[in-house]
Amino acid sequence: MTEPGPCYFVIFGATGNLASSKLLPALYELEVANLLQADLRFVAFSRRAWTRENWLAHLHLSLNQHLGKDCEAAVFERFAQRFDYLAGDLADPQAYQRLLDEVSKPRLGTCENIVFYLAIKPSEFLTVIEQLDRIGLSHVHGRHRIVVEKPFGEDIESARALNARLHQHFDEEQIYRIDHYLGKETVQNLLVFRFANTMIEPIWNRNYIDHVQITVAESTGVGNRAGYYDGAGALRDMLQNHLMQLLTLVAMEPPATLDADAMHDEKVKVLRSIRPIAPQAVASQAYRAQYAAGRVAGQAARGYLEEDGVAKGSVAETYVAARFFIDNWRWRDVPFYLRTGKRLAENMSLIAIRFRHPPQLLFHDTAAAHIDPNWVLLALQPTECMHIELHAKEPGLGMNTRIVRLNASYRPTEATTMEAYKTLLLDVIEGDRSLFLRFDEVEWAWRVVDPILREWARNRDFITTYPAGTWGPREASRLFEREDQFWRNEI
Ligand code: BG6
Repeated sequence: MTEPGPCYFVIFGATGNLASSKLLPALYELEVANLLQADLRFVAFSRRAWTRENWLAHLHLSLNQHLGKDCEAAVFERFAQRFDYLAGDLADPQAYQRLLDEVSKPRLGTCENIVFYLAIKPSEFLTVIEQLDRIGLSHVHGRHRIVVEKPFGEDIESARALNARLHQHFDEEQIYRIDHYLGKETVQNLLVFRFANTMIEPIWNRNYIDHVQITVAESTGVGNRAGYYDGAGALRDMLQNHLMQLLTLVAMEPPATLDADAMHDEKVKVLRSIRPIAPQAVASQAYRAQYAAGRVAGQAARGYLEEDGVAKGSVAETYVAARFFIDNWRWRDVPFYLRTGKRLAENMSLIAIRFRHPPQLLFHDTAAAHIDPNWVLLALQPTECMHIELHAKEPGLGMNTRIVRLNASYRPTEATTMEAYKTLLLDVIEGDRSLFLRFDEVEWAWRVVDPILREWARNRDFITTYPAGTWGPREASRLFEREDQFWRNEI
């Protein structure tokens, strides 16, 4: 970990969507909680030709909007005082000279501790990295850090190229590959659930588990992010990173310790064991679709193609569902069904584990003849909770059963994304890399999805649609191996 000390935190893309909706509200909340050190300063870097005053007015409005309440005046004042604003084009060397001047001001003493947060389009990463190197702001005693958002590259080759370029300018300990799902409480809780409960681990395998579903459903559309999203699509935006990370945590073996490397090693083992999808099998193992106009929560919602900034006739997928198998002793032949989409019926993120039927149906001659298998539900959003569904007998004379839910933890959360960013941003400031990705994780995750990407890239004439506000295309149910398997849409 980096010793505490004066720190600059430079946000590239400070007026962009990610900064406005996630980073700045999370940093502000850290200020509210008094968790930001006194000698921490922010530099907001953006193209807009603004003054510092313009920036602060924007910051205030934007925080109020994204926090859904007015900032407290005294806290905002404290937060605002930390900011400098730097107007400039990402490719303009003079802007970086101004940045160097800014962070060299004696205000914080000799500051050799700078965080560069790339809240910009992946296509702009290299420009910034090279400019930082040009002015000598990369390899400074290994204490400067660079935070790279996902998707890291756009396929396996570009991810390798990006990594190689990053390494020309930064050492591995300086690179923070962020996946904000790793900062979510339930995700961390999953480790506790699996590895702190003796009764869970013995049944966490192919002998007892029928299949695993991982769903990240969003009711929101692409919003004002078409510039990025239209080139990425749901597979790169969500499945390759967030959903794959969830899969590894559900499937991995107990790590030797909780050290970052021990965890990464186990996650990589899972990714390496995922059965490669042959090109001719892509059509039966992965579905993509795009939202058409529909109704979400009673409101008319336009289709993806009508959204601002979407290319005419775009076939970018806003929904993806896929089936994977992990070829190891624990999981061989247990399907892992992953799906994610925008403009779906609800905001809901859920890991649902369905167990096998009991080996003997003892109750066939009773009113309880039909007994559904057990589920373990780990919900990330909108609430964070864990449910174990068991069968119990109804009190009374007949042999009737009902499902009882053991609620292993519960936390109503309106803003789990912000919580995740709060955790991870604090880690960046403190120099703790344990919740950030190692490159081989990213690389193996690309290897898993690459056959799908390649096949879809060859077939770009047509994409199925689903009405906004539904659970996606019906065809996605064809991924299931048996008729008694179905998407679990509620907690
Ligand atoms: C981001 C994606 O990484 O995660 C967005 O780029 C998506 O498209 C978001 O909306 C979802 O995050 P969360 O925490 O709200 O599930």
